Amino acid sequence: MSARKLPIAVLISGTGRSLKNLIDKINAGELDADIRVVIASTSRAKGLQYAEKARIPIEIIERTGFNSADDFSKAVFDRCSEAGVDYVIMAGYLQLLPIPESFNNKVVNIHPSLIPSFCGKGFYGHRVHEAALDYGVKVSGCTVHFVNNKYDNGPVILQKTVPVLDTDTAETLNDRVFYEAECVAYPEVIQLLAEGRVSVQGRRVTVNRG
Ligand code: GRF
Repeated sequence: MSARKLPIAVLISGTGRSLKNLIDKINAGELDADIRVVIASTSRAKGLQYAEKARIPIEIIERTGFNSADDFSKAVFDRCSEAGVDYVIMAGYLQLLPIPESFNNKVVNIHPSLIPSFCGKGFYGHRVHEAALDYGVKVSGCTVHFVNNKYDNGPVILQKTVPVLDTDTAETLNDRVFYEAECVAYPEVIQLLAEGRVSVQGRRVTVNRG
């Protein structure tokens, strides 16, 4: 692992399981990242408790406080710039956020399916897994990708698969995707970013594992 800790912001809206996983990995010395700020889209985000416990600065920036999506986005990214972060990590962030040019390929998201399946507007939470089960796919998983200005559309960095079992419900599939795929893939990508091993050309992302 590299000595330099990658400065990041983490954006949340809900339970913050992904945030907790990243904090745990950092505390275990398995992820060279420094969460400089956690920004929540609502004060009701339960995940704020994990930031508080880890003494990470918290900012609540709600869309309703702004006249336009661009003004809202400016407030979020100004706070990220102020915190001196290199990357912005979306972790269960449910607010559409226009990405300014200066943060192109600097904003990362994780989605609980193999993009381009079961993604896009309206596909979040259990809906993703219900759609995968209704379709009858035999594998699912997660996708870590850069964020652009369309839902779940930016360049793919890493995908990790899990089997779909005949007995699965949306809940059991959600748990398998989260614990077996997401909890591994997200820290892995952030560590690769910390080590400067990720490059992007158009839609194609190359990971140099040396
Ligand atoms: C995960 O399923 C992730 O793929 C999606 O949001 C969920 C995590 O939300 N982007 P949270 O961390 O439990 O709030």
